Order: sequence, then C-alpha cells, then structure tokens
Amino acid sequence: MSLPRSDVWLSPTFWSRFSIYNCVSETITTYCRAILIRLHLVSAVSLSERTCPHDHSYVPRKATDSRSPCPALNTLANHGFIPRDGRGINYKDLIKGLQHGYNLSYPLAAFLTLGGYYLLKQYDDISLDDLCRHNRIEHISSLAHNDPVGNAEYAPNVIDCELFDELLKDSADGKTLSSSDVVRARVRREATYDVPIDPVHAEIARGEMALVLGIFGGPEEKVPLDHLRVWFAEERIPDDWLPVHQQTLRQTIKTATRIRTQMNAIKTREERRSTDG
Ligand code: HEM
Repeated sequence: MSLPRSDVWLSPTFWSRFSIYNCVSETITTYCRAILIRLHLVSAVSLSERTCPHDHSYVPRKATDSRSPCPALNTLANHGFIPRDGRGINYKDLIKGLQHGYNLSYPLAAFLTLGGYYLLKQYDDISLDDLCRHNRIEHISSLAHNDPVGNAEYAPNVIDCELFDELLKDSADGKTLSSSDVVRARVRREATYDVPIDPVHAEIARGEMALVLGIFGGPEEKVPLDHLRVWFAEERIPDDWLPVHQQTLRQTIKTATRIRTQMNAIKTREERRSTDG
C-alpha cells in the first residue's frame, strides 16, 4: 500500500536516502538485538534457577549418608541433584535428578525410575541403601561391585577396586571403554559364576552399561577411562564432561541389544571351541 503524497516522509524508503537515517536505524537494530539477547539470557538463567534451585558442587559421601551400589545415583546425591543424604527420595525427585544431572529424556528417566521402584516393590520414598537389596535390582556379576557376603540381604554400596581395575583392563586401546570392551567385560564376569545370571538381571546389567556408553561416550560411545575413574570411583561428575547429548530410551535399548548380540556370539564361539576339543 503506497502512502499519500503528504505522508511520504513517514516511509523508511524516504529516509533511507539520508545516510544519518541508515546509521541511526543500524544503531537501533543493534541495540534492540542486544536487548533481545540479554532478555534471552536472563530468561535462560531464571529458567535454570527455577528448575535447578540447588547448589550442584561436589561433596563426597559422609559416613552417615545413605548410598547405593549404583554409581549414577550416588553421583547425583554427591552433587545435590537428589537429596545429598540419599534419603526420602520420591519418584519425582529421581526423574528430575536424572534429567538434570545426566540429560536423560523424560521417557528414559521415568522408565528407569518407575521400573526401579517396581522392582524394589517400594512405592513410597526410598533411601539409596534400599537399592542394595539383593536380587531386587541389585544382581550378581556386577562389573565393579561385590555380591552380598554369605547370606546377607544387602550388597555393598562401595566399589571393589580389584574388580574395577579388571574392568579398566578390558579397554582395548587403554584410553577408552567401548561397547566391545563392555561385551568382553560382561562375558568375563558372567563366566566366573557356576549359576548363570537370570535373564531379567542380565538385561539390567547390559542396560546399566548401555547408559554409561551413551551418556559419557559421545557419538562413538567410547568412554574416556579418566571419566570412568572419576565417576565410578569418586562418584563425581567429571569436570570436563557436559550433558550436551540427550540420552533416550531408544538409544539405550539399541546399545543394550547390540551388547547382548555380541555377547551371545562370543559365548557361542567359546562353547563351540570347548566342544571341538
Ligand atoms: C543415568 C542413569 C543410570 C546409570 C548410568 C546407571 C549405571 C549403573 C551402572 C554402570 C551400574 C553397575 C555397577 C557395577 O556393575 O558394579 C549400576 C548399578 C545399579 N544401578 Fe544404576 N544407573 C542408572 C540409573 C539407575 C536407577 C534409576 C536405578 C534405580 C532406581 C538404579 C539402580 C541400580 C542398582 C540397584 C545397581 C546395582 C546393580 C548391581 O551391580 O548389582 N540405577 N547402575
């Protein structure tokens, strides 16, 4: 729509003839852009303040804190993504903690949490110690944790350094843990038992490491051993790790399935070799 002749001075085309206009309009545009960026940053900060109101610095576990055999959950507690004392954790706290601490998608965080509460048969608040209860989620042939001693009902909630060193030695390149290293580690651990791990717990064990590969392993799913040491042994989020990748349920299932297929292939090969002589 063209402006009436008397109002032509209202048009930007009229003013653009004068260089002062271009200069002023550019300054205004730059100024507005700066304000918009600032508003965006402020809203991002206030959003993160609303969603993560806590201090997420690292504080190692105290003797009185409740802790589990799960390095992921102990780390969340050490960083305050779930209650630092490891007690009174409701399912909403845990879902949020998994999303904020490790950038899990909501379906994955909800699946792990609700599945965990179901296997524990606890539908109210939990303490991390509850997770040590043997044969609920906790299982035999863990890669870095021992089984309960004798007839004890609960497994230890600290890593076994010898087992953990064995896991690190499974790294083929001596720098990272890949999914084929995990495959070898799981076959090695499961072979040390006369009674095989049951199918549900075998699936859980593969899922645990599929999560680790996805969360800390980058696009190639190779976890730097330095990160693994800090996370498993100190239960601390590695300083130079950022949750830039969102881990999904689909990716976790895909990796766990690949681990199972490769484990079965190794087991079949080993069985054939032993029957052949
Ligand atoms: C980011 C999510 C998670 C990751 C990366 C993760 C990772 C792991 C890993 C690697 C282990 C094996 C430790 C070992 O073999 O020595 C483990 C064990 C365990 N996790 Fe998690 N976990 C996650 C979430 C959960 C959740 C939501 C629960 C329960 C509500 C849970 C409960 C357990 C338990 C009970 C064990 C002990 C199993 C055993 O080794 O006997 N984890 N987890």
